[in-house]
Amino acid sequence: MGGVGIPSWKLLFLCICLADVTVGQVRYSIPEEMATGSFVGNIIQDLGLDAKRLKSGRARIFTEDSSEYIGLNVHEGTLVVKKRIDREEQCGVVFPCSLHFQIILDNPMELHRIDVEILDINDNAPVFAKREMNFEISEMSTAGTRFSLDSARDPDVGLNTLQTYKLNPTDHFKLNMLSRPDGTKYAEMVLQTVLDRENQEAHTLTLTAYDGGDPPKSGSVKINVIVKDANDNAPAFSQSLYRVTVPENASQGTVILKVSATDADKGVNGELMYSFSQNSDNTASVFNMDSQTGKLSVEGELNYEKVKYYEIDVDATDKGGLRDTSKVLIEVTDVNDNMPVISIISLSNPIPEDSAPDTVVTMLNIKDVDSGQNGNVKCFINPGLPFKMKLSSANFYSLVSDDVLDRETTPEYNITITAMDGGSPPYSTNKTINLRISDVNDNAPVFPQPLLSAFVTENNSPGMSLLTVKANDRDSGNNARISYFLEDSELNGMSASAYFSVNAESGEILAVRSFDYEQTKHFQFRVKAQDGGSPPLSSNVTVKILIQDQNDNPPQVLYPVQSSGSVVAEMVPRSADVGYLVTKVVAVDVDSGQNAWLSYKLQKATDRALFEVGLQNGEIRTIRQVTDKDAVKQRLTVIVEDNGQPSRSATVIVNVAVADSFPEVLSEFTDFPHDKEYNDNLTFYLVLALAVVSFLFITCLVVIVSVKIYRWRRERLFYKSSGNLPVIPYYPPLYADAGGTGTLKQAFRYEVYGTTDSKKSDLKCPQPFSQNTLSVDHSVTTTVPRQNTQSEILFTEEVRSACRFPL
Ligand SMILES: *[C@@H]1O[C@H](CO)[C@@H](O)[C@H](O)[C@H]1NC(C)=O
Ligand SMILES: *[C@@H]1O[C@H](CO)[C@@H](O)[C@H](O)[C@H]1NC(C)=O
Repeated sequence: MGGVGIPSWKLLFLCICLADVTVGQVRYSIPEEMATGSFVGNIIQDLGLDAKRLKSGRARIFTEDSSEYIGLNVHEGTLVVKKRIDREEQCGVVFPCSLHFQIILDNPMELHRIDVEILDINDNAPVFAKREMNFEISEMSTAGTRFSLDSARDPDVGLNTLQTYKLNPTDHFKLNMLSRPDGTKYAEMVLQTVLDRENQEAHTLTLTAYDGGDPPKSGSVKINVIVKDANDNAPAFSQSLYRVTVPENASQGTVILKVSATDADKGVNGELMYSFSQNSDNTASVFNMDSQTGKLSVEGELNYEKVKYYEIDVDATDKGGLRDTSKVLIEVTDVNDNMPVISIISLSNPIPEDSAPDTVVTMLNIKDVDSGQNGNVKCFINPGLPFKMKLSSANFYSLVSDDVLDRETTPEYNITITAMDGGSPPYSTNKTINLRISDVNDNAPVFPQPLLSAFVTENNSPGMSLLTVKANDRDSGNNARISYFLEDSELNGMSASAYFSVNAESGEILAVRSFDYEQTKHFQFRVKAQDGGSPPLSSNVTVKILIQDQNDNPPQVLYPVQSSGSVVAEMVPRSADVGYLVTKVVAVDVDSGQNAWLSYKLQKATDRALFEVGLQNGEIRTIRQVTDKDAVKQRLTVIVEDNGQPSRSATVIVNVAVADSFPEVLSEFTDFPHDKEYNDNLTFYLVLALAVVSFLFITCLVVIVSVKIYRWRRERLFYKSSGNLPVIPYYPPLYADAGGTGTLKQAFRYEVYGTTDSKKSDLKCPQPFSQNTLSVDHSVTTTVPRQNTQSEILFTEEVRSACRFPL
């Protein structure tokens, strides 16, 4: 029957009781947790049973669930605690808590109901289920916000169970105690003052539960409150204005500034992003802002010369969208990164050499876009040039000449203009101007020598080149193009151009005609050199042309006269001694020098043994005594030669009459083929003419002699020892001019004989003639000894024919 449910069984059991079983009921109260064996009650007393009955009835305890907390001591009739009883285990929170069992007795069967009420003792403290409670509370939570707390549990009942809570500390929270409808108490935590994570991020509280036992027991739990951040703080820059300077040559990526902002919030609310403000768009290409670090770096090119300041608004934004703005002032500082630039505004090139000092050559503009000292440019040129720089106005310079210029000395200048700024290190720029100096006709042509001379041999061909004159002109171009001109002057009564011509281009001097040394020995004239400048400049040179002699003239025999129509015969007395001077052959040579140096030789003679001819002086002398046997008529051929190369010569026939008297001579020379009557007339005229001529001759002679003496005296002053000059073979250049030795002075001789040799003379017979013919030349060297007077006979052609001299 055991498997059936208790209620049905119980119900059945009660029915039986009610019918024929004695029923007793005893109630006991014991506190829980009594030790085993502890006395609970005495059923003998309480049920009114005696001890025998207990034994005979085999009293025993019957529990419905067979749990045996209470044992029965049959001998004593006492109930004792058999097993520790925990009220909370038995009943939990059910109150009151009792153990129910039956004392069953047999014979007769008796049932006695025993209730043992288990009384609670405060053996349990309040206990929280968790060791700690965690809350995350936003700092934005307002006061009054409630947070329910886990309740503690205390299995005890009544006062021994949980009675109250306490919270500590209570600066932010207070505890709110509430009761549920079932009477259980629970607590809430109410925010009293606002939390600030930034102030305190975590709070730790202790919640303690107390029961009502005596003494009370308690249990506590830790409450961890973590304040959850709210984006309640805006970022804030460390400075509201940042100032920074950056050199303009800062390279890309250079960090120039780090802005920083702080945000008191936490997490994303405190995560900041840096950026340029919207209104700073123009700087985005120049600078870069690292959104994470706030580093401001150079992104593009800075150029002080373009932008000197940047004003940038920067934002720091947190993830919650709050933002702060600061201003960054970036000042770009100048760096000497620009060279000076030289621009030529105007340039006069070339400039004439006669430019006055301070003539402007070029105008320059010099610029350096740097500022301050970096843009402070000095300008100068290389030293040692006759130029200087002049500052005309700010940044404008002019290069002016500083001295007199001379193209002939320096035709060009390389002027290097240097512009240097004041930076450190400085930058400089050069510009070189090749300045040419143009020519001005400031130099006249110049002949290297003031006098030029040239020799030309006479009898030149016309057109012959004599010499070339050359002048130099230091100018250039047309100013140095020289033309040569013959300066007109009178030469020998004629214009110089009749003799010479000058090639205007080459300066070559040509002979226009053939020259004759015997006529003119030298010419002197001027040649002008003129340049092509405007106005032209000129100079002149004296040219001396010396004509050189050529042996172009044969000697000319002056005496004896060789006319085809007359005969001259020299008389030699038969008494003449050895060395008797018969006559003297006189010849001249109009050439000069060697060409006029004459020598005389006997070429043919009737009797070679009788005469000799002086080689130098042409004197014909006897070389032996004349005898009677010698023929009256002697004919000598004398050759006169000059010393030229080749030499020229002339011959002369000298007739000599060896006789003592004139009639003797005449008888010898009777074979003249002339008619007697005709000869009488002729003789008369001849004598008449002779008389006139003799008179004139003497007159002239006197004049000439006196002139000669006068000259001779003068020459003595210069030639002190010239007595025997002609003997030695020395020929001074002007030998013939000086009034030579063996040669008669040409002009004089012509004069003398020119008159006697008149064809109009009507001399029938030769007359004794003055001996003085030969002594007229009183020049120093004429030292012919004159022992005898001697007559000379002059025969004209007429005389010869009249007197019929056999020739
Ligand atoms: C100027 O410079 C040029 C080119 O460098 C050079 O040929 C010339 O000789 C220079 N002249 C002078 C006077 O230095
Ligand atoms: C020739 O030159 C000289 C100087 O050399 C000068 O005195 C003279 O006047 C010039 N003669 C002529 C005709 O120009």
